[in-house]
Amino acid sequence: MVFKSILSFETNYAFKHFDCGDSNLNKYLKTFAYLNDENNLSKTFVGCDGEAIIGFITLCNAQIEFKEMPESYKQTMPKYPVPAIKIARLGVDTKFQNKGYGKELLLFAFKKIIQVSVSTGVKAVIVDAKENSKGFYEKYGFVDIGNNTFILLVDTLIDGLL
Ligand SMILES: CC(C)(COP(=O)(O)OP(=O)(O)OC[C@H]1O[C@@H](n2cnc3c(N)ncnc32)[C@H](O)[C@@H]1OP(=O)(O)O)[C@@H](O)C(=O)NCCC(=O)NCCS
Repeated sequence: MVFKSILSFETNYAFKHFDCGDSNLNKYLKTFAYLNDENNLSKTFVGCDGEAIIGFITLCNAQIEFKEMPESYKQTMPKYPVPAIKIARLGVDTKFQNKGYGKELLLFAFKKIIQVSVSTGVKAVIVDAKENSKGFYEKYGFVDIGNNTFILLVDTLIDGLL
């Protein structure tokens, strides 16, 4: 799978048949992802194999309040909000699910997040997980902090990936 910025697609025609099984995510890719990227609100990376659109992942900046942190993290956290990167959207086309592409998209994002953390500091990755994807995020070390939000500390990521 090759990763391309959504801005490298001249039209959204390539995404016409994309279906990850979630209509909101499909609509986001087809309608809003390019505009949000252009406006620097978020960044979307599309995983392709030739003409085939396998999946996409959207990242944006975020912060986490001290009170939202799991109790076990609080001892090492400041009381003010800490910088985070949010996995705002993630979808793999149903034709390609369960073949390891979701994991590949996630690892691609982790590497980008580590790069950013070196320049500006990023304490954690967060995601608002859909009910049926919670197990996916837990598999990669994300911790449930309530309200469908999951968190993974960047230090844990670096230890695991480097
Ligand atoms: C969730 C999603 C991104 C996973 O992508 P995928 O390509 O199907 O997953 P992968 O094949 O990369 O799976 C990697 C591992 O996670 C596991 N996994 C995948 N989906 C899972 C789930 N929903 N629950 C628990 N484990 C899951 C796989 O079994 C695999 O484990 P293994 O390496 O031990 O075999 C994909 O199913 C999807 O797009 N779903 C619909 C949209 C969605 O829910 N997106 C998440 C938005 S928050």
